[in-house]
Amino acid sequence: MNIILLGPPGAGKGTQARRLVEERGMTQLSTGDMLREARSSGTEMGKRVAAVMDRGELVTDEIVIGLIAEKLEGGGGGFIFDGFPRTLAQADALGALLDNMGQRLDAVIEMRVDDEALVARITARSTCAGCGEVYNDISRPIPADGTCVKCGATEFTRRADDNADSLRQRLMEYYKKTSPLIGYYHAKGQLSVVDGLGEIDAVSAEIKAALDKA
Ligand code: AP5
Ligand code: MG
Repeated sequence: MNIILLGPPGAGKGTQARRLVEERGMTQLSTGDMLREARSSGTEMGKRVAAVMDRGELVTDEIVIGLIAEKLEGGGGGFIFDGFPRTLAQADALGALLDNMGQRLDAVIEMRVDDEALVARITARSTCAGCGEVYNDISRPIPADGTCVKCGATEFTRRADDNADSLRQRLMEYYKKTSPLIGYYHAKGQLSVVDGLGEIDAVSAEIKAALDKA
């Protein structure tokens, strides 16, 4: 089963994708994580995109489509696309890539959360430096002994783009360039909407119900 998690910054795409990986053995493909990895390993591409990401703007279609195409090569399916596609050109490219592999997109889950909640979530987020587990000062705090529940690491990072200015720009980009995908997938009969405002477990249950119907 191949699915897209679609939603604004802070909607919970990464959090839910990690759960689906654990529960269903699917493969998470997060273009945001791939780009951050390219930055931290200092590749030429990573250097080129760093400032764009920190401003909260979208990286070019060419770069992210290239990253996804590389990951799909030889892959057997069972992908969760997290943060991709983000433009209509990316959506068309994904359709073509899956077609070439003889695969299909089974469901697109739109995670709906209002802007106020997004700001609160993003400014309270931290990530385990060891395994990428996502925490939140309010809804999912790091354990009192300061170790990650998944890998036991003791170092946690905050993202450079998790500040008020970048977040405003990220939201603008979402509404201008990514939200048209809601209509695009609705028209194809592939869209399911879940209430992303609920507790993490409740959102997982809604996603499960949507996937069971797909
Ligand atoms: P990316 O890394 O994809 O960031 P994003 O879309 O802004 O989304 P986030 O990762 O911030 O949020 P999320 O939905 O994953 O939420 P999370 O689960 O962490 O992209 C970063 C940048 O890379 C872009 O701005 C762009 O520059 C570039 N880029 C990436 N992909 C691209 C593409 N395809 N094209 C062009 N450019 C691209 O949760 C957020 C917080 O809320 C956490 O603290 C979490 O613990 C908490 N939380 C989660 N669920 C709940 C809940 N139900 N209740 C309460 N708290 C919750
Ligand atoms: Mg994410």
